[in-house]
Amino acid sequence: MAKAKKNYICNQCGSVTQKWAGKCESCNEWNCIEEDLTSAQCVPKGMSTAKGRKIELAPLGEFEPTNYKRAISGISEFDRTCGGGLVPGSATLIGGEPGIGKSTLLLQTVCALSKKNQRCVYISGEEAMDQVRMRAARLGLADSPVELASATNVRDILSSVDGADILIIDSIQTMYIDNIDSAPGTVTQVRTSAQEIIRHAKAKNMSVIFVGHVTKDGQIAGPRVLEHMVDTVLHFEGDRSHQFRILRSVKNRFGATDEIGVFEMAGEGLREVLNPSEIFLSQRNQNAAGSAVLAALEGSRPMLVEVQALVAPSTLASPRRSVLGWDPNRLAMIVAVLETRTGLQISGCDIFLNIAGGIRINEPAADLAVAAALISALQNNPLPPETVFFGEIGLAGEVRQIAQGDLRLKEAAKLGFREAIIPKSKNKKPPRKVAANEIRISEIDHIQMLSDMFASNQGVKAYA
Ligand code: TYD
Ligand code: MG
Repeated sequence: MAKAKKNYICNQCGSVTQKWAGKCESCNEWNCIEEDLTSAQCVPKGMSTAKGRKIELAPLGEFEPTNYKRAISGISEFDRTCGGGLVPGSATLIGGEPGIGKSTLLLQTVCALSKKNQRCVYISGEEAMDQVRMRAARLGLADSPVELASATNVRDILSSVDGADILIIDSIQTMYIDNIDSAPGTVTQVRTSAQEIIRHAKAKNMSVIFVGHVTKDGQIAGPRVLEHMVDTVLHFEGDRSHQFRILRSVKNRFGATDEIGVFEMAGEGLREVLNPSEIFLSQRNQNAAGSAVLAALEGSRPMLVEVQALVAPSTLASPRRSVLGWDPNRLAMIVAVLETRTGLQISGCDIFLNIAGGIRINEPAADLAVAAALISALQNNPLPPETVFFGEIGLAGEVRQIAQGDLRLKEAAKLGFREAIIPKSKNKKPPRKVAANEIRISEIDHIQMLSDMFASNQGVKAYA
């Protein structure tokens, strides 16, 4: 018989190789290749000719919605991000940096759920029971009927949680299965523990939420398969020096992705932020050059954020570019487009860009606001205070349309903005008016028009 081949797996990116190496070829991390104990014994061979058991095929339409009544915690930011509550039998993974507030969020969520007649079990592999109790007391939730344990052995845990509706595992990296011969936190242990817990949870119709650690570049540690195994992946992000935290859904089998929930970390735990725009704009200095307001859209939720730019003369051969909360490559592109298509001399300057409040914006709709902030900073000319921007910029300098313009305009109007500079719409309708509160709209189709508005020295009003 052929000798069983060993496989090796990278514990950072999950890629499989036949040979051990000091450095992973696919993700370039060092010291992350380890033996894959689950696949060591399986020599791939074809299926034998023995017949299998017949499986029953069923029609598509026999769905009983009452079996899938979502568990709603009442923490609306959390419920919305999950797609409207936790689906029974679903597996959710929450990733985030250490100390960002994952344990706090989950403790608050289970306490809320336990008061809605859900039987909740909180298993902590990282903290002792008294530490969790102390936190609950601090959050004023000590009276919640949550069942608590400090344990890491998956076999013991699964034997003790029968009948629970919600199971929290904090964190999956501390769990281990006693008959697998590797340390907790290794790929084999993380993957197999998650597999066993999910299988058990699905069989018992129990929702399980895993906490997952992240690597230094923000990916959930352990193999990528962990993300494939669960139904929902949430990232809890934010800057530890800011009080805002964003819960973002990046995968959801039961709802929309890109949905976000906004929280504020306060002395008494996480507080929901129901009107993020007001808070993100609350500290804006309206008369400062280099500040533009972006009407962003996160999932289904419009949100106004402030884009701040600082452009300073540089003494360096390659000027500094420093970006917080946005994609540095995208900034390089906007700078190049501004210089090439409008003739502004900007690429020789040091450029600092910041999305205020510690939030991260990913959508290309931010391009126009960034360009406006850059031009305003370069010319030391403050933008009109009641103006919002959104639109994507192409390499030819064209301003492209983006999705859900009306939703963004409505949010801007609601917060008292009076002007909007947005991409030109294809169907030549007269400028749109937002019904509730009138907002004047200037449509532009090229970045040159934006820089002309500044050159006219009358601000955007010249174009309306
Ligand atoms: P924690 O939930 O332990 O983070 P994680 O599980 O993601 O590692 O959160 C710890 C941080 O939250 C800690 O730095 C203190 C802060 N915090 C507050 O500011 N207020 C609070 O009420 C609580 C419970 C924590
Ligand atoms: Mg924790």
